[in-house]
Amino acid sequence: MTGRFIVFEGGDATGKSTQARLLAERLGGRFTFEPGDCSIGASVRQILLDPDNHGLDYRAEALLYAADRAQHVAEVVRPTLESGVDVVCDRYIGSSVVYQGVGRGLGREQIADLSAFATDDLQPDVVILLDADLSVSGERLGANLDRLEAAGDEFHQAVRAGFLALSNEHPETWIVLDGTGTIEEVSARIDTALDEFFS
Ligand code: TYD
Repeated sequence: MTGRFIVFEGGDATGKSTQARLLAERLGGRFTFEPGDCSIGASVRQILLDPDNHGLDYRAEALLYAADRAQHVAEVVRPTLESGVDVVCDRYIGSSVVYQGVGRGLGREQIADLSAFATDDLQPDVVILLDADLSVSGERLGANLDRLEAAGDEFHQAVRAGFLALSNEHPETWIVLDGTGTIEEVSARIDTALDEFFS
């Protein structure tokens, strides 16, 4: 008996966090997120998102995301799944592959390997990519940007394209959904897609 591991991916402010929380509620599952959803991870998150950390080397950044993921999987994700409860996670390996592998230019394979090591190869059952045009997410973001959000339009265009490419390569686990519209409209799209996926 193991829970289902459902991951949300997408660019910044595509509505993932809201939708992941709502889906966890509908399923009676556990909502969680990366980076930072455990006490050690919360310290790592602060380093990663502090806009004053200008000098953070890209490889160090990739390792910190992987360290957060290792702790999160060991402490939260795996035990929850093993107890038979569904886990709905806001961001996972795909975020590292795309933000660090593509956006920072570190290479997708190396970053995927790093995450496989960090998680002892725990892969999601299904990944929902919420896709939205940058103008939509930019409007939702507003003015107070964290270190990654402030990385610029070119970076975020590369991230969007990187997610779409990754989802194209893994059609058996990735579902791409339009992230625009009201919260209720997007939730309905998610339910329909998951019903079909798990039927
Ligand atoms: P967060 O405030 O959680 O953003 P969001 O609500 O958009 O998910 O900040 C997480 C930031 O970290 C986000 O800009 C994406 C980035 N990130 C990576 O670069 N690599 C990763 O592996 C993960 C999990 C997140």
